[in-house]
Amino acid sequence: MFYVEILGMIPEMAKAEVQALAELGRGGVLGSDYLLVYGRAENIDALSRLGLAHEYGILVGSFESIEDLIEYSEGVEWRKLISGTFAVRKERMLNCSYEVENIDKRVGAIINSQGLKVNLSKPDTIVRIYCGRKLWLGIRIREFKGKEFDARKADKRPFSRPIALPPRIARAMVNLTRATREVLDPFMGTGGMLIEAGLMGLKVYGIDIREDMVEGAKINLEYYGVKDYVVKVGDATRIREAFPGKTFEAIATDPPYGTSTTLPMDRDELYKRALESMYEVLEGYLSIAFPADFDAVEVAESIGFKVLERFYQRVHSSLSRYFYVMRV
Ligand SMILES: C[S@@+](CC[C@H](N)C(=O)[O-])C[C@H]1O[C@@H](n2cnc3c(N)ncnc32)[C@H](O)[C@@H]1O
Repeated sequence: MFYVEILGMIPEMAKAEVQALAELGRGGVLGSDYLLVYGRAENIDALSRLGLAHEYGILVGSFESIEDLIEYSEGVEWRKLISGTFAVRKERMLNCSYEVENIDKRVGAIINSQGLKVNLSKPDTIVRIYCGRKLWLGIRIREFKGKEFDARKADKRPFSRPIALPPRIARAMVNLTRATREVLDPFMGTGGMLIEAGLMGLKVYGIDIREDMVEGAKINLEYYGVKDYVVKVGDATRIREAFPGKTFEAIATDPPYGTSTTLPMDRDELYKRALESMYEVLEGYLSIAFPADFDAVEVAESIGFKVLERFYQRVHSSLSRYFYVMRV
């Protein structure tokens, strides 16, 4: 069993991202308790790709009372789960319904009594206790530090434009495509989606109608160490012309939200034609963001897409959007 502590920003999208990656590991999500999502997968390494998460790990057990958790902890052979030194860290979620004041110390003492050494400042292994509707006991595998993502924010890229999505969201969008080999972004801009996909080891393809963006995206991809890319000038409404004869496992993209003053054609017309063009070259999933005042469901379904999910986000007073997951 695994657990993921998701971010609270767009929780339904974060859950869907966990589900997508669990599927890649031949498993799925079984449930959630506030911001803790848990499930089963044969291979949980795919979770190391997560974007909208604080951490993930192995779920040791869940309990409905403090006594049950303590009793269970006494029976665990901790040496099999912990290598090196350890620390127990508890998390009180907003819905925490237990008195957990000393629970970390009590579990720490049990583990310590089995001969394992505590190191509070730099432990090799972190034992986690989450308090929500239930009590959850786990071993952290990986924490996703904000700093790592911040280093790839729009204003930190060598070629910077204020048009890019936050890296954690771009990463989640790539993950929602369930890509295992390659991703295309036909509105790539500064390359945010491709940077995240490239860092996951996927081959990345991108086009943008503007030459300066293509040059800039190349600079950014190189800067973050992404080597396996093909980017060129191209029109998202004519993808086939940019990549003759090629189809793509997955597409993740964030089209411009601008008005007709900044676009060569009517915005809704651009979205429709781009969706048609993507449909022609796509083999699997499309993950795409649209402003909330564009109803993509009807347009996409009339083209042939199956719209699987959508997640709402209010960005600021004049911009709300939906993130869609579709399939051909
Ligand atoms: C919202 S931005 C994408 C931001 C991108 N995710 C990033 O990380 O920078 C949309 C991009 O679409 C490009 N664009 C607009 N119309 C296009 C078209 N018909 N074909 C391809 N790109 C287009 C714009 O030049 C812009 O760079």
